[in-house]
Amino acid sequence: MIEAATVGEALAEARRRLDGAGIASARIDARVLLAHALDAEPASVPGRGRHPLPAAARRRFAGLVSRRLGREPIAHITGHREFWSLSFEVTADTLVPRPDSETVVEAALAWSAGHGVPASVLDLGTGSGCLLLALLSELAAARGTGVDVSPPALAVAGRNAARLGLAGRARFVRDDWGSSLAGPFEMIVANPPYIAADGLPSPKRSLGFAQAGAHDGAVAVDPEVAGFEPKVALYGGADGLDCHRSLAPQAARLLAPEGALFLEIGYGQAAEVTALLSKSALEVIEIKKDYSGIPRCVVARRRGR
Ligand SMILES: C[S@@+](CC[C@H](N)C(=O)[O-])C[C@H]1O[C@@H](n2cnc3c(N)ncnc32)[C@H](O)[C@@H]1O
Repeated sequence: MIEAATVGEALAEARRRLDGAGIASARIDARVLLAHALDAEPASVPGRGRHPLPAAARRRFAGLVSRRLGREPIAHITGHREFWSLSFEVTADTLVPRPDSETVVEAALAWSAGHGVPASVLDLGTGSGCLLLALLSELAAARGTGVDVSPPALAVAGRNAARLGLAGRARFVRDDWGSSLAGPFEMIVANPPYIAADGLPSPKRSLGFAQAGAHDGAVAVDPEVAGFEPKVALYGGADGLDCHRSLAPQAARLLAPEGALFLEIGYGQAAEVTALLSKSALEVIEIKKDYSGIPRCVVARRRGR
């Protein structure tokens, strides 16, 4: 229960409680949740400090704070997350788009600048559709296909395409890593699940912030991730690479001769992923680092081109 009479008091009270529960982002979370309760922009909240907090907003805010205290991710509570400066609907059926995954978009756009706009883009494991739709928003002449095994995730991706005005150039298909599709696609992007099954890092590999919410030296998946994000979007078998192994032959089959694959990886997975792609006649030509300097996106093409 939030007791505060003003916006400023409510903000301070929520921040104290979230902080006391060990939530590192207590300050920004309190602001985002209060903005959501007030139906306002987060940046406007501090300026309203002395404004009275209407009873309905106070009740709403109390409910939101209590969900956050239960470790529900902010994006699930507000129902959206910004990615590539676009707003994406996010539900419990989709991975919350991570800033590190923008490395995949950047790498694909840099390649496109040198090789020409691809006519066709394939996104394997599309989730909210964030990778595909960010690319289509930049590549006006391209059309795209997003594949996922999860029907509810595909429904969210379809709504995101419509909201962003991209539905005319995007289609979403339920499939197992594109195995029933016919190519070729000039650009393939994928962010497969890559956390090891036990949610713990191997001795030399942490889970990587991108999907685990933990960084080098971390010992477990954050409760927001483990408790609320879909397992099918997170875990990649005993060593975290089962999905990369499954999709590699499909990507090799579907990739156009002059095309390129942009594949997200977890912390410390670059060498193993390079080796497993090679078994499918794909050669790694570049590895792009994320904003923290961690190798995050493997760029590959068909071997012997
Ligand atoms: C790590 S999430 C990535 C979601 C989104 N592309 C992003 O970057 O935020 C992985 C996605 O792969 C999907 N997935 C898991 N197994 C799959 C399979 N066998 N075939 C297709 N998609 C699969 C999951 O449902 C999930 O949406």
